[in-house]
Amino acid sequence: MSKNRILVIGSTGQIGSDLLPQLMDLYGQENIVAGEFNGDLPEEIKNRIATVSIDVTKYEEIEKAILENKIDIVYNLASILSTLAEKENKLAYDVNFNGTFNVFEASRNTGIKQVISVSSIAAFGDRAPKINTPNDTIQNPNTIYGISKVFTELMGNYYFEKKGLDVRGVRFPGIISWKVEPTAGTTDYAVEIFYGAILSKSYTCFLAPNTRLPMMYMPDAISALVSLSECDSKQLKHRVDYNVSSMSFTPEELADAIKCKIPDFEINYDIDDSRQEIADSWPSSLDDSVARNEWGWRPKYHLSNMVDDMLENLTNKLENQR
Ligand code: SER
Repeated sequence: MSKNRILVIGSTGQIGSDLLPQLMDLYGQENIVAGEFNGDLPEEIKNRIATVSIDVTKYEEIEKAILENKIDIVYNLASILSTLAEKENKLAYDVNFNGTFNVFEASRNTGIKQVISVSSIAAFGDRAPKINTPNDTIQNPNTIYGISKVFTELMGNYYFEKKGLDVRGVRFPGIISWKVEPTAGTTDYAVEIFYGAILSKSYTCFLAPNTRLPMMYMPDAISALVSLSECDSKQLKHRVDYNVSSMSFTPEELADAIKCKIPDFEINYDIDDSRQEIADSWPSSLDDSVARNEWGWRPKYHLSNMVDDMLENLTNKLENQR
């Protein structure tokens, strides 16, 4: 894998900002190209790797970036998250449906070796079992974002089976990280709460105290993407739709875990009905045994070591910004 050249589309978002340094370490910074659209790369990455402007809604920009940079592997992280997608349907359709199609199509037409794409717990709806949602079950999402993720999974499988493109992907739960904040997702409270805890010892949560959702700490999310990319294709019976999970908690439980470290932290609730409705339609926990069995997925973080690591790293980041 070391000589493969990798393009990360959507690299300035929450996941991309953590994925890039890992890929640079693993495969050499000269082999990594960041596809940027909105936003800037973190300072420590900016001047070390090639960047290219890519709007996923424009097929030509993707094809040109792949050819000019002699790319072998594409990670597509460009996506409009659930809350924004409900407000901006057309934008979500353009980015999540057309953009995904463009990435698969450009990858096939240019002979890309592998595409990594990202789905979500949002690909499930209220007819799937809510607890330990199986990998293979009914999928009836009722959000534009969730529908676009089912499209991503099905199209990924289609490009693999019918067009011979090696597409692989995971269904991520809410991702928690300290480098770059997510933009307008339903699980964002689990990141915002740490900013509140550190900066003002309080946080007003937009989801109800007992809303249980699957979550994951960023180092595990990055390791899921890299392990899936590196495993032997023959191991994979599924392709683009692996449940991956590490922890599940409610806002109340997360607040209690933070209080163990910051005893005077206080959580309040001001429920946003539209985001609550989205959260209520999603699984509260995932069965990820298929990923464990097929490619050896194993997370390292649970609630308490995630909280410790988040508080330490985010505190350092915020102090350095002063
Ligand atoms: N984190 C995403 C969201 O909240 C779910 O995949 O939209």
